[in-house]
Amino acid sequence: MSQQQPAQEQPTEPKYEIRMADDGMPVASSTFAENIDGVYWTWITIAIPFFLVVVGPMIYFALKYKRKSEDEKTHPLDHHLRLEVFWTFIPTVLVIYLFWVGFKAYADASVAPNGAYEIKVTGQMYNWTFEYPDGTITNELGIPKDKPVKLILSSSDVIHSFFIPEFRAKQDAVPGLYTSLWFQATREGTTAVECAEYCGDGHSRMLTTVEVLPSGPDDQQGTFENWLLNGGVKTPLPPVQLGEKKYNALCMSCHSLDGSRIQGPSFKGVFGRQEKLADGTTITVDENYIRNSILNPQGQIVEGYPPTMPAFGYLKDKDIEGIIAFLKEQK
Ligand code: CUA
Repeated sequence: MSQQQPAQEQPTEPKYEIRMADDGMPVASSTFAENIDGVYWTWITIAIPFFLVVVGPMIYFALKYKRKSEDEKTHPLDHHLRLEVFWTFIPTVLVIYLFWVGFKAYADASVAPNGAYEIKVTGQMYNWTFEYPDGTITNELGIPKDKPVKLILSSSDVIHSFFIPEFRAKQDAVPGLYTSLWFQATREGTTAVECAEYCGDGHSRMLTTVEVLPSGPDDQQGTFENWLLNGGVKTPLPPVQLGEKKYNALCMSCHSLDGSRIQGPSFKGVFGRQEKLADGTTITVDENYIRNSILNPQGQIVEGYPPTMPAFGYLKDKDIEGIIAFLKEQK
């Protein structure tokens, strides 16, 4: 770890923050979030009293009428028509009501409005990539506030699930299939994106962020349009910081910074290190080795590690140079 980085900003523990509301739920940051919370609280409000009404007497009767001995006669109890009609009718009405409440919220959250802004999302063990209509590719999602956004999701390996808790939006990303998800963000700021489908041992680290920016002219700093024009950053970053950002989005789930082994070799002291490769040769980790390992990971595998890293061919030279600069800092 280099000295420039204060302890609270260690890239191994990036902040994927979810803002919390007073009711213990993440704050509602999309147009349909409150609606979905409404369904949740409706169900909870009905389910808890009914649970008590059913399970309470059940336990009481089980104890009270417990058969005392082997020869005790059981009661020849018959049915009670009025009671049975009563306890069939009320639950039926309730279940229909709960279905209606849930289905309405589900339908609203499922159908994207016409003209929504489309972004392509690809899940891959263990990161997300976002492709914008102008060709920009990022690993952190940026979206305009108060505009409907439609995501077209897919996966390049196994099933992942794209989840933004603050938006109450979740959808599977499935290989060989396109799924979609829409939302309209109502609150500026940054919040966590999680993977909600177990996809491998890097699953819990398959995290990124969504930044909600005000919409405005693309020559005005701080707008979504300006962010997109700059390739997905608010202000261009110096190489080490750009590299750290890419590390957090792409490398962190498999390469540690503290020397511990995850999927791939740790990046602690990686630059200039001698590595024994699977083919028996030994190399020194330099700029070219890092670049080749990003673009063609199967080319030179370090001995003892599985050849599972995907290629990151979409990264720009600037990104790769940033990663190299960041790795040089990992002493
Ligand atoms: Cu991707 Cu879990």
